[in-house]
Amino acid sequence: MKDSFERTIDYMRVSITDRCNLRCKYCMPYGVEPVKHEEILTFEEIHEAVAVAAELGIRHIKVTGGEPLTRLGSWKLVKMLKSIPGIETVTITTNGVLLEPYLDRLLEAGIDGINISLDTLDEEHYRELTGSDGLPQVLMGLESALEKKIPVKINAVSIDWESMQKQDKEDQSGGAGQGPIYHQEAPWWVPVAELAKTYPVHVRFIEMMPIGYGRWFQPLSQQVLLARMEERYPGIQRDLARHGFGPAVYYQAPGFQGSIGFISAIHGKFCDSCNRIRLTARGQLKSCLCFEDGADLRGFLRAEYTKPGERQAQVRAALKEAIRLKPAAHCFEQPEQMTEFRNMIDIGG
Ligand code: 5AD
Ligand code: SF4
Repeated sequence: MKDSFERTIDYMRVSITDRCNLRCKYCMPYGVEPVKHEEILTFEEIHEAVAVAAELGIRHIKVTGGEPLTRLGSWKLVKMLKSIPGIETVTITTNGVLLEPYLDRLLEAGIDGINISLDTLDEEHYRELTGSDGLPQVLMGLESALEKKIPVKINAVSIDWESMQKQDKEDQSGGAGQGPIYHQEAPWWVPVAELAKTYPVHVRFIEMMPIGYGRWFQPLSQQVLLARMEERYPGIQRDLARHGFGPAVYYQAPGFQGSIGFISAIHGKFCDSCNRIRLTARGQLKSCLCFEDGADLRGFLRAEYTKPGERQAQVRAALKEAIRLKPAAHCFEQPEQMTEFRNMIDIGG
């Protein structure tokens, strides 16, 4: 279906939980308030919403969270969504900690691709950022997925480690400090980027958006990152092949098996070609990350109806309206205009 700015909307991100087994500093450093089970859409309700969305032209589903693999039987939902006529791909975004144990079941369910969120390969940084020692498990999951020939992408939020560590030290001691980063030979992004050298994976650097705790992070310019890559990898060039359905701009470095991508929501604003809507774990339909507006799909999915097909008709009308009202663009450059103050996990990363 097209929205009122002639953009084709064919991609839906479906959050299936707002829980997570990590505590990323820019996302949910203090965890989340536990939500009652009844508040979260059941798999049947998600299936029904996606089936109606597919009739309206949604073709690609990304299962997200929180951490989707923390929801019991998440692979069963993948299977249910894969069986919907019109749905061409179902992929998942995970932090990778639980990937290894669930991989076979995801594969049997028909998963088309896995995005692993991994912001650093330095164990100390990983612990500092996520509050967890899970890095080896993530890497095991990555290698197993590749052995099983599942397409994998890495998502790394670009973090200005130097200013983050300086700030942390200042907060703790009242004066500027020196983090371990200053003693490292290669900048933090090198091992992350070089995952695409070692493995046939696309690595995408994501610009931090002013959402939730992300607002308090010093943004690291993707232009600066690219310039540093051009110095380090002479001959790096734009890769015009399409890798998926999202807004990443890709580059190919000589000797790399996969590409390096940049998803720059602010400095490379891509709203003109935005193709997506979001369904939150609690069943709110959102058409833009920047604004709180959204339809309460859960209400329509759970209402009592007398006529057959009435529920689907209501859900269809709500979806159409959300697509029709999709804003032309986000306003992250002027955060004072934002009306969305919730965290990424409540919106559906
Ligand atoms: N800005 C950019 N990306 C974010 N993510 C979570 N919060 C933010 C933010 N404020 C990322 C996660 C994950 C993806 C689902 O969203 O790191 O890769
Ligand atoms: Fe969990 Fe992802 Fe948020 Fe980190 S960014 S706490 S992995 S949902």
